[in-house]
Amino acid sequence: MTGETGSCNIPPWLPLVLILVTLGSLCTQAVCGNANKMETADFLTPKLVLAPGSVANRYFYNVDFPKGHIALKDLHAELVDEGGNPVPLYETYLHHWVVVKYYGRIGAKKISEFVDNLTLKSSDYISGRNDGICQGDANGQIFGTGSESRKTETRVPDPYGIELGNPDVLPSGFEEKWMINVHAIDMRGVVDKMGCAECRCNLYNITKDALGRPLSADYKGGFLCCYEGTQCRLNQGFEGIKRSVYLKYTAKWVDMDSSVLPIRIYILDITDEWKRTSNSTGINSEHNCKVEYDIEPCNATGLAYKECIDTRRLSLDMPFSGYMLYGYGHQHTGGAGSALYRQDGQVMCTSKPVYGKGKEVGNEAGYIVGISSCYPKPGTIEISKGETLIVEFNYSSIRPHTGVMGLFSIFVADQLPKPRPALDIVAQNQENVSLLNMV
Ligand SMILES: *[C@@H]1O[C@H](CO)[C@@H](O)[C@H](O)[C@H]1NC(C)=O
Ligand SMILES: *[C@@H]1O[C@H](CO)[C@@H](O)[C@H](O)[C@H]1NC(C)=O
Ligand SMILES: *[C@@H]1O[C@H](CO)[C@@H](O)[C@H](O)[C@H]1NC(C)=O
Ligand SMILES: *[C@@H]1O[C@H](CO)[C@@H](O)[C@H](O)[C@H]1NC(C)=O
Ligand SMILES: *[C@@H]1O[C@H](CO)[C@@H](O)[C@H](O)[C@H]1NC(C)=O
Ligand SMILES: *[C@@H]1O[C@H](CO)[C@@H](O)[C@H](O)[C@H]1NC(C)=O
Repeated sequence: MTGETGSCNIPPWLPLVLILVTLGSLCTQAVCGNANKMETADFLTPKLVLAPGSVANRYFYNVDFPKGHIALKDLHAELVDEGGNPVPLYETYLHHWVVVKYYGRIGAKKISEFVDNLTLKSSDYISGRNDGICQGDANGQIFGTGSESRKTETRVPDPYGIELGNPDVLPSGFEEKWMINVHAIDMRGVVDKMGCAECRCNLYNITKDALGRPLSADYKGGFLCCYEGTQCRLNQGFEGIKRSVYLKYTAKWVDMDSSVLPIRIYILDITDEWKRTSNSTGINSEHNCKVEYDIEPCNATGLAYKECIDTRRLSLDMPFSGYMLYGYGHQHTGGAGSALYRQDGQVMCTSKPVYGKGKEVGNEAGYIVGISSCYPKPGTIEISKGETLIVEFNYSSIRPHTGVMGLFSIFVADQLPKPRPALDIVAQNQENVSLLNMV
């Protein structure tokens, strides 16, 4: 599914001494990926303390993050315990984590942690959301996934990166900061692991949301029923100790310079109830992303199980143009694949969940442990501003599901890498030269 492009295809036979010479002389300026050194660092959020069946949904403001004018290349995260050991999904289900950029006023009182409260309305806070296309706070993250965290490829292909810390775009008097929202559900001893993971209201005995507003009778499940402090039903007599888990996140980045080309991040949400609007200067659109939806069971007698598929399709106008470099569709349990199409049916990207089959971490049976992503060769898939694309999400409808998602994330760039010089030819000549020299 993935095809590495734009990287420096130095033949393995090329003597090391030559690699050093050619890297220095030929692989600059966005030709061989950036020659900048890749930095990697692990960070931990503050701890989440979970009793069996309990839920943590925490918003950690001002978390540690790489600093300076950099290009973020990748971000991975997983839950670990006090000893730093990865926690399996059937013990603590990672419903989601999202990493959100914001700008905090320099010298302002520290924005501390807020619970169940993504919308900060404060003159000390400016949102640093991604490029769209939802509005408000919906799906504004720079990175974020869920149970598929461990095996989903999210790296930004060379020579591209997510530009951060650019002093020229920083609102005056503000500094760039990061918030991480972690939503985890303790699964030890619960009566119905999938039901708890899907936040079914009856299992949580919840009839009001986190702000005390009554839920409508047809709201069967979703994040309104599994907020911070809620409790999923336990097997009678189950006893277990509280334990602490942390989100460990690993960032990879390079220094930003002219060899790195910036990308933009868009998230297309299958639940987006959008409409075209027009004003005196042109066509515009308004978006209302619901984020979650439910899957009704098919219960169709005579239908083969494999035909019990809930297919949702959404036509969306693209408010931007550029080259698509990456795509992947976030799904929950029951997910059966997603795709992005052009209006004429041409496939731009498909993405498929991988289900675990065992007990070990990263392969937990019945859970989505990874989702395939696509890396079209830069330049091969172009999106034009105003073009209508079709997002498709499939779920198995053999069983009903509540609170599922269909978020298709894409990376888009304005520029293509500069054409490669005839590296192989040059290298070959130099091989002869160097071999002659060395013999
Ligand atoms: C956060 O939510 C609480 C209710 O839980 C509300 O009273 C408060 O105004 C909210 N704060 C912000 C900054 O939005
Ligand atoms: C469910 O909640 C109601 C009040 O909201 C309470 O009276 C009842 O005891 C709860 N049931 C269980 C099983 O916890
Ligand atoms: C009107 O539409 C144009 C084109 O989409 C947009 O750039 C502009 O911001 C809109 N103006 C207002 C006032 O909404
Ligand atoms: C979704 O399901 C429909 C109907 O079964 C199928 O035609 C389509 O190819 C599926 N799409 C993906 C992305 O799996
Ligand atoms: C469909 O199946 C679900 C369980 O998967 C069940 O709860 C529901 O009652 C069934 N509906 C009908 C109409 O048979
Ligand atoms: C490399 O040297 C060999 C042997 O001397 C020669 O046959 C070959 O043509 C040379 N290749 C190039 C690219 O110069």
